[in-house]
Amino acid sequence: MINTVGVIGLGTMGAGIVEVFAKAGLSVIAVDGSAELAERGKGFLEKSLGRAVSKGKLDEAARDEIVGRVSFGDDLAAMKDADLVIEAVPERLEIKESIFTTLDGIVREDCVLATNTSSLSITEIARATKVPSRVIGMHFFNPAPVQPLVEVIRSVMSDETLVEQVRELAERLGKKPVVVGDRAGFVANALLVSYLARSIRAYESGLASRSDIDAAMAAGVGLPMGPLTLCDLVGLDVIHEVCGVLYNATGDPSVASPSILRQLVTAGRLGRKSGHGFYTYDGIGSGTVVDDAATTAPAKPLEGKVGLVGEGDLVDALGSELSDAGVEVVRVVSADDAASVKGVAVTLAVDAVELDGDCCGGGCCGGDDASHGDVESGLEIGAKPVLRAVRDAIGDAGVIAALGEGSVETASTGDPTIDATVVPVVLHEKQRAGQVLEIGRSVAISDEAVETVRSLAVAAGWTPVVGKDRAGLVVDALLYPHLNDAAKMLDSGYATVEDIETAMKAGCGYPQGLFELLDEAGPDDVHGVLAEMYFETGEQHLVPSPLLTEHILADRTFRG
Ligand code: CAA
Repeated sequence: MINTVGVIGLGTMGAGIVEVFAKAGLSVIAVDGSAELAERGKGFLEKSLGRAVSKGKLDEAARDEIVGRVSFGDDLAAMKDADLVIEAVPERLEIKESIFTTLDGIVREDCVLATNTSSLSITEIARATKVPSRVIGMHFFNPAPVQPLVEVIRSVMSDETLVEQVRELAERLGKKPVVVGDRAGFVANALLVSYLARSIRAYESGLASRSDIDAAMAAGVGLPMGPLTLCDLVGLDVIHEVCGVLYNATGDPSVASPSILRQLVTAGRLGRKSGHGFYTYDGIGSGTVVDDAATTAPAKPLEGKVGLVGEGDLVDALGSELSDAGVEVVRVVSADDAASVKGVAVTLAVDAVELDGDCCGGGCCGGDDASHGDVESGLEIGAKPVLRAVRDAIGDAGVIAALGEGSVETASTGDPTIDATVVPVVLHEKQRAGQVLEIGRSVAISDEAVETVRSLAVAAGWTPVVGKDRAGLVVDALLYPHLNDAAKMLDSGYATVEDIETAMKAGCGYPQGLFELLDEAGPDDVHGVLAEMYFETGEQHLVPSPLLTEHILADRTFRG
């Protein structure tokens, strides 16, 4: 039975792990490299418990009892009494190996050696010790007191009874253990950090601003945090190291540490813990963001009415939503009504149509089949007589926001002045953190038109996310490769659907698992957008998993 645990390294994760053990009633020996670092670790614990006391979730006597279970120091020799020692030192193999080699000469023979490594090889760490069979991965998630997941990682040398003991210990701590083999990034980080690296690269390439990338995933998908905010929480140095491990293991350039990440780490901008990362904070260790040079100016208030083109339940719902938000709406359901939108600030064209062979009735492109290209679905703005009438009525200056489902293709009218005022938009489902209206921008579209649509979004109570007009815009462009990775991991046999769902929900606070999201979006839609993204970029990681194709052909979802 494990009753006394040692924790080595009292940074963000180590201090959190100390708290988890001490709260569960275990005695904890907490050690860091110097008396000052040990004192800092104690400070982290007291701060975290203090937060619970101030919220009335813990009384002072209970707090003192928890702190009393922990001895803080700077001497590894204190580990001689431990039943299990877990290290949470920086992600460098040589540091971990050296600690484990030292522990060999200190701990009891029956002591389990655990590592909280985020991605390094348990097998390699185990080989540095005299008894590799007692080395197990025990991977917690940030914030450790909050996230229920513990990945229990076995190497091929691990003693299975110890693996089981560690799994049971995780359960005693009130955590959700997932037992897996030793593979770079294990389940959660292999999926999460790949997605974070791509999100950073999307930011670096100017796909969208940092706040729009974060809003896309928080308000657009419902994740607890946007990817750049999460990088700042976890620590950019940690993300950088894990990217390196993933890249070395897979050779996939999309998971290599992005240039901007390397620059920030080199500059000492490590996220919340240094007060600067992708965002600037009001102090070291704070999560409160303050404005800096990269802060996006808020949208200007919308001036004037909004035209709403189209018929059906969705259009009716949008009409009420806009009216409820205090926006004056002019409805257009037939070409005869079109003149009524003259002078409106922006017309939201909800006439998203599935383009079939006759996308324009011969009217917009002279029936020339070649000009249809490979477009299969979306809204072609010149396609419908109503829209053409609206276009004529509002004149060159009026803006049309063309609403599509998932993606929108806007065809050129042949007149650049008119094209500059047609903006593709996608409205996502409402989430806890808001509802995103994605807005595509391109060289053909004027900045003013994009700004007008941003104002419309804010006036309607939606969260605008402006991104380059590429396949998947921002939300799907970040989400779908993440879902594809989950399908690839499942296909590789490393983890089950249940493991993957638990890892992302219990480790990263996802309200839905990746397969739930995949089934909801539909394997065919995910496949289609990935294929478009692959066609646009040629990036290998975007090739849809064969398991997606298999599910589409069998007309099956992943969760049955
Ligand atoms: N330490 C301790 N407790 C904390 C905390 C911290 N750093 N931050 C938040 N909490 C607690 C709060 O006190 C609060 O507790 P109560 O419910 O008891 O009041 C609870 O968490 C919720 O916090 P908030 O209400 O302040 O904020 P929130 O609802 O937005 O949740 C969050 C904050 C838990 C961090 C949430 O945003 C979240 O889950 N984000 C995703 C985090 C994630 O993905 N973690 C995994 C990163 S990867 C990793 O760690 C592995 C690795 O190896 C790199």
